[in-house]
Amino acid sequence: MQMKKTITDRVSWVGKVDWELTTFHGEEYSTWRGSSYNSYLVRDEKTALIDTVWLPFAEEFVSNLKQTVDLNTIDYIIVNHAEIDHSGALPLLMKEIPDKPIYCTKNGIKSLQGHYHQDWNFVPVKTGDTIQLGSTSLVFVEAPMLHWPDSMFTYMTGENILFSNDAFGQHYATELLYNDLVDQCELFAEAIKYYANILTPFSSLVTKKINEVLDLGLPVDMICPSHGVIWRKDPLQIVQKYLAWADSYQENQITIVYDTMWNATRRMAEAIAEGIQESDGSATIKLMNAGKEDKNDIITEVFRSKAILVGSPTINRRYLSSIGAFFEIIRGLRFSGKKAAAFGSYGWSGESVKLMAEDLAEAGFELVDEGCRVMWKPDGDALDACRDFGRRFGQAL
Ligand SMILES: Cc1cc2nc3c(=O)[nH]c(=O)nc-3n(C[C@H](O)[C@H](O)[C@H](O)COP(=O)(O)O)c2cc1C
Ligand SMILES: [Fe+2]
Ligand SMILES: [Fe+2]
Repeated sequence: MQMKKTITDRVSWVGKVDWELTTFHGEEYSTWRGSSYNSYLVRDEKTALIDTVWLPFAEEFVSNLKQTVDLNTIDYIIVNHAEIDHSGALPLLMKEIPDKPIYCTKNGIKSLQGHYHQDWNFVPVKTGDTIQLGSTSLVFVEAPMLHWPDSMFTYMTGENILFSNDAFGQHYATELLYNDLVDQCELFAEAIKYYANILTPFSSLVTKKINEVLDLGLPVDMICPSHGVIWRKDPLQIVQKYLAWADSYQENQITIVYDTMWNATRRMAEAIAEGIQESDGSATIKLMNAGKEDKNDIITEVFRSKAILVGSPTINRRYLSSIGAFFEIIRGLRFSGKKAAAFGSYGWSGESVKLMAEDLAEAGFELVDEGCRVMWKPDGDALDACRDFGRRFGQAL
């Protein structure tokens, strides 16, 4: 059974570590390292509970919480974000303490009512509103669209803790709780994947909100997100990362995303990579078969890239379905400042390259070449043409 973990004299973690989770948001987000739903209990003269856990763990959560605190002594329930992974245990908790006030944004009330259809004792809060807990207090900061209209942060004075909910979180199961205790490669791999796949569309809001909070000059000793580890060692390092990630982030990387039926397009991809390597020798080049690789891992690599190439043969006058799914995702994420081109094999009509180029442009990529097309399986000359195309692409960056 998951018992509470002490963070400070006044703050404890009362969440759930979900080691078994392999997908999140239905099947949209792979969670190779599990996740956690972080709920926090804050005790001063008054007691507040910040967020709960996902629905499947509601019973476990409420029964553990009862062993930690007399539920009737909870004065305030804070809902930073109404998504089910944080509010799922709320209905069961509210059965036990039905009259307790729930503090959330105006949009939070709408989301909670939209999900649970209950007339709970809602108290809408705005940026700057404060609850005095004793010598400490909770200050609310609205963060609309980071990543839902209802999202907000809660800052605890005295302890100098920012409860940031999904922002700065990672789908990362660990029993160790703190950023400095875990494997740093794993931690940052999960943090960048989370940003790339969930926060990319809101990058301009990320920059604005972070600067707004930094301008308040509040001391931040810890950032307690709603997934993954607590940032206690150099907590602002993840804030600095977010500022970099929000600013059309790119590394010296080129990712070639392709799919293939009979390996013609794969051979093209490999020859193109050779050409790029000749003209842009220092760039990291990665080939990813969209039909085989995890879609979120592909998106993370695209996020890190300065340019991408997308390849598919023509099938039924279109492109392959894994490439269609890839375009659906990147259209929504709206990356900025990245270059691109398309390539592919065909047998007779050969529409795929033109269609992919159009989709890349629509997704906000800058096309630097009209693309490369090969009929059937590439022979030596065709592979030379692919290498040429790769060299041209590398030079155009
Ligand atoms: C089911 C199927 C449908 C196809 N439809 C088209 C088509 O509409 N137009 C076209 O030019 N080629 C079409 N082709 C031919 C492929 O584009 C061609 O075989 C190509 O070389 C395959 O490349 P790959 O080895 O990368 O899969 C089709 C092939 C298959 C198997
Ligand atoms: Fe969320
Ligand atoms: Fe979440």
